[in-house]
Amino acid sequence: MRDRTLSPPAQLPSLAVVRDPQKVPRRLRRVLSLHDFEPAAQRHLPRFLFGYVSGAVEEGLSHQANRQAFAAVGFVPRALRDVGRRSQARELFGQTYAHPFGICPMGFSAVAANDGDVVLTRTAAEIGMPAICSGSSLTPLERIAGEGRGRWFQAYLPGDDAHIVPLVERVAAAGFETLVLTVDVPVSANRENNIRNGFDAPFRPGLSLAWQCALRPRWFAGTWLDTLRRRGMPHFENMAVTRGPPIVPRARVRPWGGRDRVTWAHVGLIRRHWPGRFVLKGILSPDDAAIAAAEGVDGLIVSNHGGRQLDGAVSPLGQLAAIRERALDMTLMLDSGVRRGTDVLKALAMGAQFVFIGRPFLFAAAIAGPAGVRHAAQLLGAEIDRDMAMLGIDRLAQLTPELLGPLR
Ligand code: FNR
Repeated sequence: MRDRTLSPPAQLPSLAVVRDPQKVPRRLRRVLSLHDFEPAAQRHLPRFLFGYVSGAVEEGLSHQANRQAFAAVGFVPRALRDVGRRSQARELFGQTYAHPFGICPMGFSAVAANDGDVVLTRTAAEIGMPAICSGSSLTPLERIAGEGRGRWFQAYLPGDDAHIVPLVERVAAAGFETLVLTVDVPVSANRENNIRNGFDAPFRPGLSLAWQCALRPRWFAGTWLDTLRRRGMPHFENMAVTRGPPIVPRARVRPWGGRDRVTWAHVGLIRRHWPGRFVLKGILSPDDAAIAAAEGVDGLIVSNHGGRQLDGAVSPLGQLAAIRERALDMTLMLDSGVRRGTDVLKALAMGAQFVFIGRPFLFAAAIAGPAGVRHAAQLLGAEIDRDMAMLGIDRLAQLTPELLGPLR
């Protein structure tokens, strides 16, 4: 029997959407939109890390398509409505969040940002947002579980029952409420930029990486050396029931494999063992959505992994309507390329209940820690607030396809 009891929604922090330039740290004053975090992060991170976070796969076709899909959708705003009391609160799996967006799972967050896994989860919880802990995170999931709001864990699993069941039990014992299984990484992607920059996971240190670090002393001292001093060499902590190898190993080992043998039978197995909400991330096919619904999955994150896996995979926004038709009562969420308040509103009007955002939040945490994450959330929240007023709505529930039209 599935236990669907969730912790009651905590008191939401007040939603301050009016930007007060005096309260924004100096380093972030020129960061006026989520896009602006990227060049700031490029100045802060060594090339191999910036390339890893910002990069896409092969030709970058899906990465570009994600933005183009949003650009092709326009609004048909309604006029002369009283929109003086706007709220962008949104309920998701029994929790009420301050915003309709959260933070995607991102591996290596604790290398890009000092204590990045905790900073993202804790700050998101303070703001009233969910943040999904990545299966490739470098902080034990038990520590993250104490920080989160809604407590979301994303797993990478091999097609091996003996591996899956103990990890699922570990995640449940830690107190996570929502388990996300990522299904679009049967093998690692062909990210040529990582090879060019000398980035490989696990890392292989050498002269090139040392030189790149020397050019970024603030990251090197403030994040990397500080991490080594406080907690020693980071390990892959959450790939299995036991601790994985360090990210800079003595011998060459790959801590993962066998993901190319994961099937719907494993989804059924997880469903039987996992008591909480169960979400699949990386679904793009309406047929797969129908299978997921039949397997008892609670929600989908419609995603092409931010254009980082199969190059040419269609944009999630373009698939939403067809997936909605086959998804029965599953909760639909979306990620990949969301950067503006208008993007969020378009996705919600097209049937998503919630959206998640990746790269900009990790850049924000890398540059300025919790203040960066807060700044990112506030910029996006303020855009949504303004856009709602101009669209003629004061509640997200008023978003319907009638407010959209092709942008010609
Ligand atoms: C990711 N993503 C990802 N997804 C996942 O399921 N598990 C993971 O460990 C990671 N790791 C990861 C690292 C980094 C640096 C990035 C940028 C992304 C994919 C992520 O969850 C999400 O699908 C995309 O990032 C969404 O696209 P945008 O918002 O970055 O365009």
